[in-house]
Amino acid sequence: MAVNMNNDVKPEPALSAASAPVKKRVFSGIQPTGNLHLGNYLGAIRNWTQTQAQYDNIFCIVDLHAITLPIDPKELHRSTRQLAAIYLAAGLDLRYCKLFIQSHVREHAEASWIMECFTPLGWLNRMTQFKSKAGENIESVPTGLLCYPVLMACDILLHQAHYVPVGDDQRQHIEFTRDLAQRFNSHFGQQVFIVPQDQIREVGARIMSLDDPTKKMSKSDPNPNSRINLLDDAKTITQKIERATTDSERLVTFDSNRPGIYNLLSIYQLLTEQSPQQIEDEFAGKGYGDFKAALTEQLVATLAPIQARYHELMNDLPALENILKQGADAVRPTAAATLQRIKDVVGLG
Ligand code: AMP
Ligand code: TRP
Repeated sequence: MAVNMNNDVKPEPALSAASAPVKKRVFSGIQPTGNLHLGNYLGAIRNWTQTQAQYDNIFCIVDLHAITLPIDPKELHRSTRQLAAIYLAAGLDLRYCKLFIQSHVREHAEASWIMECFTPLGWLNRMTQFKSKAGENIESVPTGLLCYPVLMACDILLHQAHYVPVGDDQRQHIEFTRDLAQRFNSHFGQQVFIVPQDQIREVGARIMSLDDPTKKMSKSDPNPNSRINLLDDAKTITQKIERATTDSERLVTFDSNRPGIYNLLSIYQLLTEQSPQQIEDEFAGKGYGDFKAALTEQLVATLAPIQARYHELMNDLPALENILKQGADAVRPTAAATLQRIKDVVGLG
C-alpha cells in the first residue's frame, strides 16, 4: 500500500463497491401504440441515452396504458417488441438501463387499484390529457382512460424513482404523481414513496406538427405528413420536410412568431447540437430551400443507423424477449417490496 508522506494532502478514499456513491434512479416509459416519431425521440428517448451513464435507469414499455384506447391485439403485441427494439437501437445501453414490459410486472396493476382508492376523483377530472383524449364521448370512454394517471404514478413510485425524464405534455401527470405520493406518505405518516421530480428539457420538450406548427407532433394525428416517423426512409423524410409548413418570409432565423420555421430550426438545433447563432450564421443569405435540404440530410444521417440496428434487433425476436424477461426479473423485487409496504400500511393481507 502506498504511504502518503505529505500531511497536507488527504489520501484518496479507498474505492470500494460499498463506498461508491449510489446512483439516483430514473424511470420513464412510452406507450407501444405505433407511429413512434421524432417528438418521442427528441423529447424523450434521446435524452435518456445522453444521461444514462449518470443514473440507474429503468425504461418501461407501457402496454397496460396502451389498452386505455382501442387496440388490435396482434398489433399491440408487435408494437411492444418494436418499441423495445427502438429503445435499444436509439442507444439505450443495458449496462446502465433495465428495459421491461409493464404487464410483465403485475405489481403495477395491483398497486394501481389500491392507489385509486386513495385518489380524489376531482384530481383525475382535472387532467387535461384525459379531457382531450375523451373528447365528446365522456360517457362511453373506458374508465381506464380516467385512471391512467394513477397507473402512471404507480409505475414511477413502485420503483422508487427520483427523476422522470419526459416531454412537456407529461408535466401535469408528474405533478399528479408527486401529489399522490405526498398525500399517501402523509396520510400514513411514513415515507412509503420517494417523491419524484420531472426532468423536462427546454429545447425539444415540444416538437410541433409539420403541417400545423401550433399543434404538437403526435402519434394519433390522422395526417401522416404531420410527423417524421422514426422508421421513415430517406425519400419519405425528404418529401415531408419539403411539404412542411413555413411562411412567406425568407429569413432563416429563430423567431417564435413564425412557428413553422422555428420548429424546423429547433429540430436542426437538437440534431446538430449547435447554438441558434451558429445556425443563423450558417444560413445567412440563404433561403428556406437550402435550410430544408440541410435539415433533411441531418435527419437521414441520424435515423438511418437507428433503423439499421432496429431491423437487426427485430430479426432476432428470441434475443429481444430474453432482454425483456431479464429486465422484468431485475426490477420486480423493488416493485414487490414497495407493493408490500403499501399493503402493510393500508392493512391489507
Ligand atoms: P407518448 O407517445 O404519448 O407515449 O409519449 C412518449 C414520450 O414522448 C413522452 O415523454 C412524451 O412527453 C414525449 N413526446 C410525445 N410527443 C412529443 C412531442 N411532440 N415533442 C416532444 N416530446 C414528445
Ligand atoms: N403517459 C406517458 C406518455 O404518454 C407514458 C408513461 C406511462 C410514463 N408510465 C410512465 C412516462 C411513467 C414516464 C413515467 O407519454
